Amino acid sequence: MDNNLEKIKSRPALYEFYTAKELWNDEHTSKQMLSYHLNGDVDISSRRFEFIDKSVDWIASTFNVSGNTKIADFGCGPGLYAHRLARRNAKVTGIDFSKRSIDYAKDTAAKEKLAIKYINTNYLVFDTDERFDLILMIMCDYCALSTEQREKILQKFYSLLNPGGSVLLDVYSIVAYEEREEQSVCEENLLDGFWAEGEYKGYLNTFKYEEDKVILDKYTIIEQERVRTIYNWLKYFTPEELEKEFAEARFKIEKFYSDVAGTPFDVKGTEFAVIATK
Ligand SMILES: C[S@@+](CC[C@H](N)C(=O)[O-])C[C@H]1O[C@@H](n2cnc3c(N)ncnc32)[C@H](O)[C@@H]1O
Repeated sequence: MDNNLEKIKSRPALYEFYTAKELWNDEHTSKQMLSYHLNGDVDISSRRFEFIDKSVDWIASTFNVSGNTKIADFGCGPGLYAHRLARRNAKVTGIDFSKRSIDYAKDTAAKEKLAIKYINTNYLVFDTDERFDLILMIMCDYCALSTEQREKILQKFYSLLNPGGSVLLDVYSIVAYEEREEQSVCEENLLDGFWAEGEYKGYLNTFKYEEDKVILDKYTIIEQERVRTIYNWLKYFTPEELEKEFAEARFKIEKFYSDVAGTPFDVKGTEFAVIATK
């Protein structure tokens, strides 16, 4: 047990493991995630519906969304943005590796007769001959990627955009990094049953990687039948650092905002958004 505890509390090397797919696809946790996405009153998995409505209004006016606008939504979840944009006639492609979310998105689009292309795959390997005017990656998904994955995804965005096309994404700021602390928690049914259907013991070990401004929430979930470890990496940015990553991928930063609804940038904010153009 001591040996196990040591393993549970051990700090892995930066980006040593990538377990996002297990988190979003596990039979039980994907169900929890979908119910959070569809709860319009909380900012978990997706933002509250009031914000999403405001965000889509802003996106539609900022990018002159019309019947000719081709949009790719990376990590579209159950299609909360994709549906709203398709209702404004945009030609939308949604990409997500959560089968549960994509199945839900496809069903609801079919009911409304919205011609959205939903693709159930890892967006790091997604490719197509289509070209887009706008690429979205909303709710700080960019922060969950390693340095190498971020480099790869920006190259992908660049090659998938039409000339003059834009990326809109949001990230956690360095202010949010400073607010967080390392911790070691052990609880029966950690997060009120989020991690498994039956009884389990859940460990949360939070590690800060000071030099890189990355935080890892390492969850170890111990059930009768299985033990699993989920690694949630989050990179926190300054605008300068984000600008550098985009510049290295040949993008030009148009503007920073506080969020993807066009709220003016605030240096004290815990998140910020960016529009970058090819
Ligand atoms: C925080 S949720 C945001 C969903 C949506 N953008 C929204 O704001 O409503 C992140 C989504 O990205 C998806 N995702 C994370 N990593 C992914 C990857 N590598 N490939 C495809 N989808 C991914 C998850 O399944 C999840 O649906």
